[in-house]
Amino acid sequence: MAEERSLPDADKTAGLTGEGLSLIYLRLCSFGGYNAGIGYWGLGRDRCGFGDTLAARGEVVGLSRSGDGLDVTDEASVARVLGGVSGPFDLVMIATGALGVPEKSLRALSGQAMLAQFAVNAVGPALIIKHLLPLLPKDRETRVGVLSARVGSIGDNALGGWYSYRAAKAALNQVVHTAAIEVARSHPLAVLACLHPGKVATSFTAGYPGEKDAPGLSAARLLAVLDGLSPAESGRFYDYAGKIVAW
Ligand SMILES: NC(=O)c1ccc[n+]([C@@H]2O[C@H](COP(=O)([O-])OP(=O)(O)OC[C@H]3O[C@@H](n4cnc5c(N)ncnc54)[C@H](OP(=O)(O)O)[C@@H]3O)[C@@H](O)[C@H]2O)c1
Repeated sequence: MAEERSLPDADKTAGLTGEGLSLIYLRLCSFGGYNAGIGYWGLGRDRCGFGDTLAARGEVVGLSRSGDGLDVTDEASVARVLGGVSGPFDLVMIATGALGVPEKSLRALSGQAMLAQFAVNAVGPALIIKHLLPLLPKDRETRVGVLSARVGSIGDNALGGWYSYRAAKAALNQVVHTAAIEVARSHPLAVLACLHPGKVATSFTAGYPGEKDAPGLSAARLLAVLDGLSPAESGRFYDYAGKIVAW
């Protein structure tokens, strides 16, 4: 029988300092209670200290562009960095991404800027998932969370604007949904999910006013949502509260 799962709660992580949701991109962290251990794979800055919290429970390794030369838009780089680690991983967070300069109107569209958005927000995570597959266990539950954004939801789009970012995240959602179908054939206990983190105080939102959640709080919520998903719930789009987001 599986032991009780222990996750960092919001209170515990909200007070941590630093920035970037990338703090949750850690790997191979054995949580108390998980008999198989649980892994968080880092693809970001990890400056928050959440990594330290998790490290107290097991092995934690973060991967990033600055630290490991991982450029998700360059498949050779993805293959090299992911080929240099050994699995299997029980939990992976892919939380790279960039906002660019969101367009307010069609007049502001630039083909080059749009392609750059697709490269970093859709193609990048797709390449990560491709090269991640050999590192996922087939004989036990494994979870892969991919940070998307609610603005990538077509059904939720009532305001318009932000063409490139919206479209790139919508493409990402399709990639994750499609990958979930394929991965389920070889890894029946796998969960892949698109996750919306909420509005979070990171460099990403620095230029935007309004209330923002602390990265640690958002990270804890996302981990709890991902942890609560079963293989039957794979391939969907969830927000930080665990609610389904419309495609
Ligand atoms: N913050 C929010 O309110 C919010 C809301 C909705 C969705 N999101 C999503 O959440 C995710 C994380 O955003 P964040 O707020 O944590 O932003 P962030 O602090 O800017 O982190 C983005 C991370 O992506 C990495 N990255 C960017 N381009 C990369 C590339 N080509 N190769 C490898 N790594 C790359 C950055 O690495 P470097 O450190 O090397 O630059 C950074 O660690 C994004 O997918 C974003 O779309 C955020």
